[in-house]
Amino acid sequence: MAKMKRILITGGAGFVGSNLAIYLKNHFEGSSITALDNLYRKGSELNLPRLEEHGVDFINGDVRKISDLRKAGKIDFLIECSAEPSVLAGSDGNTNYLIETNLNGAINCAEVCRENNAGMIFLSTSRVYPMAPLVNASITEKETRFNFDKQQAVPGLSELGVSEKFPMDGERSLYGATKYSAEIILNEYRSLFNIPIVINRCGVIAGPWQFGKADQGIAAFWTAAHIFKKPLKYIGFGGTGKQVRDFLHIDDLAVLIALELESSEKFSNEGFFNIGGGSGTSASLLELTKICESTSGNSIGITPESTTRYADIPVYISDNSKISAFCGWSPLKTMENIITDIHSWILKTPSITNLYR
Ligand SMILES: NC(=O)c1ccc[n+]([C@@H]2O[C@H](COP(=O)([O-])OP(=O)(O)OC[C@H]3O[C@@H](n4cnc5c(N)ncnc54)[C@H](O)[C@@H]3O)[C@@H](O)[C@H]2O)c1
Repeated sequence: MAKMKRILITGGAGFVGSNLAIYLKNHFEGSSITALDNLYRKGSELNLPRLEEHGVDFINGDVRKISDLRKAGKIDFLIECSAEPSVLAGSDGNTNYLIETNLNGAINCAEVCRENNAGMIFLSTSRVYPMAPLVNASITEKETRFNFDKQQAVPGLSELGVSEKFPMDGERSLYGATKYSAEIILNEYRSLFNIPIVINRCGVIAGPWQFGKADQGIAAFWTAAHIFKKPLKYIGFGGTGKQVRDFLHIDDLAVLIALELESSEKFSNEGFFNIGGGSGTSASLLELTKICESTSGNSIGITPESTTRYADIPVYISDNSKISAFCGWSPLKTMENIITDIHSWILKTPSITNLYR
């Protein structure tokens, strides 16, 4: 418990970072939590009063500058939640911010952990897995969704989803490549400097305080569009809306991160984990629409656009078998819980209602 005292959360004004900061502040009595963020993401500034209200300190800083990270002083743990998190980032040729933040920023975080002999938790992504074997997976088209078949040609893939045994060769998007490159360097820091570094390869994370956009934060984006009757599109895979993702409620993630902090060496020794809502908490866009319609009472026109976008894949589900067997964690919140929570958050928070309207 002593090592839980001082935690620095980079990207701490973002969706994941701010929710973790507040959860951990309440969970670990006497802990001191600092959120560092450069407020790059539109909406992150709206988290600042919330962080202050819960006793979380804030540094307006940038992970690209190690001197900013050092402003936090002595730390026992760092949770790296800063990122340019869109899978489309860099596809317009502007690659610098993505690489500098996601890769060099993560390395700066590891370096500060080395200086402090501190542990680190890294929010990585399912996007580290290459796209071609996912696009070519054996999939059945059902009435409302695509499903992974039981029998698959590649290891690490089953009807439960993608496990840690999935092959790593191939292109994975620039976003995925920045995260995977960071993982590789972090592994070296772990073994060379003997500091605990826990790597979570997360599927889609969702919940309140996510400032959803078309290319990132789809659950909040879809829910808000239904509330405020904004137009939506089913993009790619014939425009049918059958592409599937698993969704992890931020509250379920927070429970796991607290476990990882409590036993960081044990988790670190395992290398990395796939973390997500899993097959039980997944939805296609069509299914997401149905839930949003019943939550909001609104039905909106959704335009099909058949051309598939860069880096899109038909199905991703996290196979949580390894993490569940390792520590007993599995997500508890359902798809309906996720959308209901986002729905009531948008409506009861005036600053958020104005942002989305
Ligand atoms: N949300 C998801 O579905 C999801 C899924 C898998 C992995 N992740 C990972 O989880 C982490 C958190 O994602 P999120 O959904 O909270 O995204 P987010 O955009 O809400 O939060 C990221 C925060 O980082 C900040 N930031 C960006 N560049 C920075 C920089 N150079 N210096 C300091 N701060 C900077 C942003 O202002 C933002 O507040 C990211 O590493 C992301 O890659 C997210």
